[in-house]
Amino acid sequence: MPKDVNGHLIPGSVGPLLSVPQHIVRPPYVGLVEPPEYTGDNTYSSEEIAKIRAAGRIASRALDAVGAAVRPGVTTAELDRIGHDVVVSSGAYPSTLGYRGYPKSSCTSVNEVVCHGIPDDTVLEEGDIVNVDITAYLDGFHGDTNRTFRVGEVSEEVDLLVTRTEEALRRGIKAVAIGREVNVIGRTIESYAKRFGYGVVRDFTGHGVGSSFHTGLIIPHYDSAPQFNDVIRAGMVFTIEPMLTLGTHEWDMWADDWTVTTRDKSITAQFEHTMVVTESGVELLTVSGDRPA
Ligand code: MF3
Ligand code: CO
Ligand code: CO
Repeated sequence: MPKDVNGHLIPGSVGPLLSVPQHIVRPPYVGLVEPPEYTGDNTYSSEEIAKIRAAGRIASRALDAVGAAVRPGVTTAELDRIGHDVVVSSGAYPSTLGYRGYPKSSCTSVNEVVCHGIPDDTVLEEGDIVNVDITAYLDGFHGDTNRTFRVGEVSEEVDLLVTRTEEALRRGIKAVAIGREVNVIGRTIESYAKRFGYGVVRDFTGHGVGSSFHTGLIIPHYDSAPQFNDVIRAGMVFTIEPMLTLGTHEWDMWADDWTVTTRDKSITAQFEHTMVVTESGVELLTVSGDRPA
């Protein structure tokens, strides 16, 4: 991985735009400076949920393919190309491409990059971790998911961070119940992360998702009560996507206006699912398999 004299990751060079076949329907924001405002209530009918599930399955399968390609020597641009090809060959549009001007079909966030890393010619090395975040848009609906992958063998400290970040997502998911406020999710995640002294990123959050990529509903990953008191209702669709760090929760932004790093350059991991609230908890909508009947 290219690093500066302080051992910090440095930006690589971003390749040309990947093309999307003309028959694939673009989300409404492509070509606009910002997306049109969402005015719905973050709940969806079962027909709409089936469409989010179909989009989410494509995003998850794209991550399966990317994950199988993660190894020392691969570039983040190569990973982006693999995800892009799965999404478009499934007839879907990679939602990040052209979202507020973002230039790629996934976000690839390496080591100290918290989120929104832009795929480039950065070569991954043994011991690195890389989060890959893919959203697919199909038939009017988005499914948004990410995972953190280990590049070869990683240190025990980093290995535990990745394992526990996935566990933090699982615990946040388990806290979801009709009638609770959304701030229960972050309370659960933060109390788990605090056991290990991890930083919990506050300024990037989960969100409502569905007919819009980001609907305006905010799902914090820290204990935000009494703020963020939206009441969880049946049929609500949102993401949970905690970012935990080995150091601070504070962050810096690269000059590209996208790449977010930890301010202390500590290593950080993230996992994300899109889910719908049900009577029994949630159903995950970003899974690769077929749904049991
Ligand atoms: N998929 C990211 C999320 O989880 C958003 C990426 S927006 C981008 O919300 F423009 F940075 F790609
Ligand atoms: Co998201
Ligand atoms: Co995402």
